[in-house]
Amino acid sequence: MIAWWWHSTPLTLCKTAYGEAPALSMAHVYPPHRWSATKAPSDALHFGATMAVMKPQATYVWFDGRMRTFEKVSVALLNHSLHYGTAAFEGIRCYETPKGPAVFRLRDHVRRLFHSAAVMGMKVPYTQKEVRQAIVHTIAKNKLRECYIRPIVYYGEGMGLLPQGTEVHVAIAVWPWGQYIEGDDTHVHIVRTRRLHPESGVMTAKVSGHYFNSVLASLEAKRERADEALLLDHRGNVAEGPGENIFFVQGSTIHTPRPDFILPGLTRATVMLLARDMGYMVVEKDISPARLPRYEEAFFVGTAVEVHPIGRIDSTKYESACKGSATLEIQRRYAELVHGDTAAHAVWRTPVSS
Ligand SMILES: Cc1ncc(COP(=O)(O)O)c(C=O)c1O
Repeated sequence: MIAWWWHSTPLTLCKTAYGEAPALSMAHVYPPHRWSATKAPSDALHFGATMAVMKPQATYVWFDGRMRTFEKVSVALLNHSLHYGTAAFEGIRCYETPKGPAVFRLRDHVRRLFHSAAVMGMKVPYTQKEVRQAIVHTIAKNKLRECYIRPIVYYGEGMGLLPQGTEVHVAIAVWPWGQYIEGDDTHVHIVRTRRLHPESGVMTAKVSGHYFNSVLASLEAKRERADEALLLDHRGNVAEGPGENIFFVQGSTIHTPRPDFILPGLTRATVMLLARDMGYMVVEKDISPARLPRYEEAFFVGTAVEVHPIGRIDSTKYESACKGSATLEIQRRYAELVHGDTAAHAVWRTPVSS
């Protein structure tokens, strides 16, 4: 017999058989937070866990070819990238696997880093191989088993918009970072801030200047007391979250926005592969907000957020975190992949040998 259960909060309505336990909490899948977070004052904005201010806890940073302590690294006040948003960066994760810590899709992330740097006219003074080795070395030096990795390529001191002749620096920071969005009943708000027009930037590049758009969207969502923002593209169709791509489930079909107006992430590509392996028909298409109530599930994906169920988008509720959902199964398979609990795609896991 089927009954309707309210669980977690009254926002996720699940079709669950009588007597069965409600859906697994994400805490069963992900370890608890392991970073020090200072929440903003409650009278300023409704900052939830996603907007916690992070103080990275690691000792060593790789900086321009040398390992330094965090305190020894500084950036000039008249730094070009700070003033004009010209830094190229990546967000990567390292996971514990049966063979020790391994970085997920390192080669692809470093390739994108070099692409983003080239978009900003930067010539990275290292090879991709050297940057990959430096990342692995930084993780080992900090003795981390699981962490978030932030390589950044930026212009140094120099004012004036054209960066000609400005020195290019490379830094790699690592720190433990658990679940990006807490809880399994995420409230998403469609914000007024639109995703950047694709011709006002280069959507495939991860460039710091693009992120004023994501920050505006995140602040707007917080003002509405939502956990995360959803941005529409310049035409009014669903684009992506401030730092995540989005998927929707309708029966055996999964929809995700076309890659043209978003950052088409590596996790998105991984999840499309997993979902197709599971037998879903995955279609990239324009998704209008009016279509959202037709879907049963919705979830975010990205290196930071991993695979995360959405409980509701404004007034539209989803069964994404309910027992037996496609979202939870994709989340489980993604966790299995990054943790090396399957032999599949071993080439995507770069071992960190200490
Ligand atoms: C705007 C935006 N979209 C999507 C993503 C997801 O990309 P990836 O899966 O490569 O981390 C990110 C994260 O880098 C992002 O910043």
